[in-house]
Amino acid sequence: MASRRPSRNAGGPTQGFGSPLTLAIALDFTPAVTRRPAPLTVSRIPRMTLDEFKSAAESLRADGPAQIAAAATLEAWTDARNHLVGRTSGRLSELMTALGTLPKDDRREAGQLANAVKQELEALLDARHAELMRQQQRGPAIDRTMPGRAAWRGSVHPVSLVIDEVVEIFRELGFTIALGPEAEHAWYNFGALNFPADHPAMDLHDTLYLDDLVLRTHTSPVQVRTLQQYPPPIRILAPGNVYRADPFDASHAPMFSQVEGLVVDEGITFADLKATLTRFANRFFGETKTRFRPSFFPFTEPSAEMDVRCGVCKGTGCPVCKNSGWVEILGSGMVHPAVLENAGIDSERYTGWAFGMGPARTALARHGIPDIRILYDSDVRFLEQFAR
Ligand code: DAH
Repeated sequence: MASRRPSRNAGGPTQGFGSPLTLAIALDFTPAVTRRPAPLTVSRIPRMTLDEFKSAAESLRADGPAQIAAAATLEAWTDARNHLVGRTSGRLSELMTALGTLPKDDRREAGQLANAVKQELEALLDARHAELMRQQQRGPAIDRTMPGRAAWRGSVHPVSLVIDEVVEIFRELGFTIALGPEAEHAWYNFGALNFPADHPAMDLHDTLYLDDLVLRTHTSPVQVRTLQQYPPPIRILAPGNVYRADPFDASHAPMFSQVEGLVVDEGITFADLKATLTRFANRFFGETKTRFRPSFFPFTEPSAEMDVRCGVCKGTGCPVCKNSGWVEILGSGMVHPAVLENAGIDSERYTGWAFGMGPARTALARHGIPDIRILYDSDVRFLEQFAR
């Protein structure tokens, strides 16, 4: 407010300055047009001797070029120009002002010096400006020697590749795909599959329980769900994830994939099992020897495990096959009549066979990989090698 107060009481009320009321009137009602502007502050013009003038001019001549060269953008160039030769506040304009204060006899020499410095700086400024404009037109600096970035190519995980191939081979043999839930009723996971009530697989140490459900420990419950839903003839493949309370080590993981297979029809025998699985092994691994070993599962009778010749050592013995020359790739057997009955299928009329394989184990055997954990690491240096 103080600055709006007129310096003289021009045209305002003249009486009663002692009264607060008239003071307020004097402040607020003075017409703007009658107000005098505040006097301009004229900066003091420095007086110089000729020597002082010369040394000021030479120091400008010395500093200027570096400042101009350092201007990397048009904005910085404008700042440098204003600072050096700007008309109102630049260093050159200060010199020009000081010029008038020199003794008359010195002015000619001083003026010539100031002019020379001015011309030099302006020439440098023009050249720098042209260069900056050229740079702007060229766009951002591009390093053409920098190696290009190849487009990222993802690949299918080696375990998924095995599943896809297995599915494809069995599809050609007339199988269709069936899926079931990963959080499964204990009855489908155990009871319906003929597990006795005290079977160790049902122990808390082996199975992950969720209140009334379990995380399925195998894909075999899909057998029962399918048989309940569809009448024979049945030929299905059921891929999916399964879970066990196993520690992560070189040959175990708490979650892994399985592929289940099931055939139920009239007149199915162990010969169908052997023929189909042998055919599959030869398709999947290329011509190979297979062998069936007796085994046990609650849901098959008889049961057998199928081995193939170790693809890494071709049977001579190596760490992948633990020197046996054989790699186990699946469990199988004739579907137990109790399982058929539990699913509501007449076990006098129908028979069937089934198998379950772990594609991770199969991928390890196929590629000679010694540790299952590498399949879970998501290390692209490993996974990229399977890109197709
Ligand atoms: N479910 C078994 C497991 O997880 C694998 C298996 C064996 C499935 C024999 C089958 C079979 O269908 O007939 O170890």
